[in-house]
Amino acid sequence: MDTVMDINITKVENSKLNDLNLENIPFGKYFSDHMLEADYENGEWRNVEIKPYQPLIIQPSLAALHYGQSIFEGIKAYKDADGVAYVFRPYDNFVRFNISAERLCMPTIPEEIFMDGLKQLVEIDKNWIPFRENHSLYIRPLMFATDTLLGVRPSDTYKFMIMLSPSGPYYTTPMKIYVEEKYSRSVKGGVGFSKNAGNYANSMIAAKEAKEKGYDQVLWTDAVEHKWLQEVGMMNVMFVIDGVGVTPELSEGTILNGVTRNSIITMMREMGIEVQERRLSIDEVVEAYKKGTLQEVFGCGTAATIAPIAELGYGDFKMPFDISTFKTATELRKQFDDIRYSRIPDTHSWMVKI
Ligand code: COI
Repeated sequence: MDTVMDINITKVENSKLNDLNLENIPFGKYFSDHMLEADYENGEWRNVEIKPYQPLIIQPSLAALHYGQSIFEGIKAYKDADGVAYVFRPYDNFVRFNISAERLCMPTIPEEIFMDGLKQLVEIDKNWIPFRENHSLYIRPLMFATDTLLGVRPSDTYKFMIMLSPSGPYYTTPMKIYVEEKYSRSVKGGVGFSKNAGNYANSMIAAKEAKEKGYDQVLWTDAVEHKWLQEVGMMNVMFVIDGVGVTPELSEGTILNGVTRNSIITMMREMGIEVQERRLSIDEVVEAYKKGTLQEVFGCGTAATIAPIAELGYGDFKMPFDISTFKTATELRKQFDDIRYSRIPDTHSWMVKI
């Protein structure tokens, strides 16, 4: 591993790993021995350190708690059969993190703190990477406002952190998704493209009501007509209609520019499948379903990876799918796993060796 940054490191005396079996672990419940922390004060980042994972001491007046200046990322680390650790496309998440920061009036984080900090942290806790199909070490970078003041203005101080969570799959069964027409996730000019905490808080009531109807998550539609598809709660969405991949475009700034989304578009094009990034309406999807040309629907995201959708519900209209016929999603999933577990050559240089 190339190490550039000088980071103050304090290691744990006894690893908690001895008390944990890394098989069949749920997503995001356990945390590794160490975390990274850095502070933004007087216009610069300082106190970059890796230390034992521990509680934070905060004031009730902490700005992030009141006005939501809080952003995060999700990245995964894997181990190959020889025990070598790799992280999947962390630089892309670094770039997106700073795009979120700018939108939320937060300072950007220098590349060496994000990238070197992440690499050094994963190196220290690499024994926490589960070596099991569908498992990984989920990496959660986070930045939040730390001023203690109730006035509404961008904070002058921030904390950047990275924590690591050995995790199993986010979804263990194929998803049932409800097309959301009552609530909205984002609008042009809003914060839909940024990975900020508030987007997830906003989504919870829609997911809760969808669950009451027997679904796992929602598929967001635009806020004006509730017709143009955006993304599924927590991941982007891909349709295969008449052999062509169709996914909502990024240009309106209403959806997240997913790293997994970008990876599968690249892989599909390499597989000879045409992929269109464009406006896609629920009417077009329903029509294709009725004509029998809607062949596959799947979600794609870091936590969920490639997640087949077994049913789409639009009002009272149900569109069930036989996911065993999803050839593209199955092939993508296989190739994706083979790249991430280093079973086939990484021709795109997506895997960063630790
Ligand atoms: C991810 O896919 O990494 C996410 O951020 C989704 C989620 C767990 C909030």
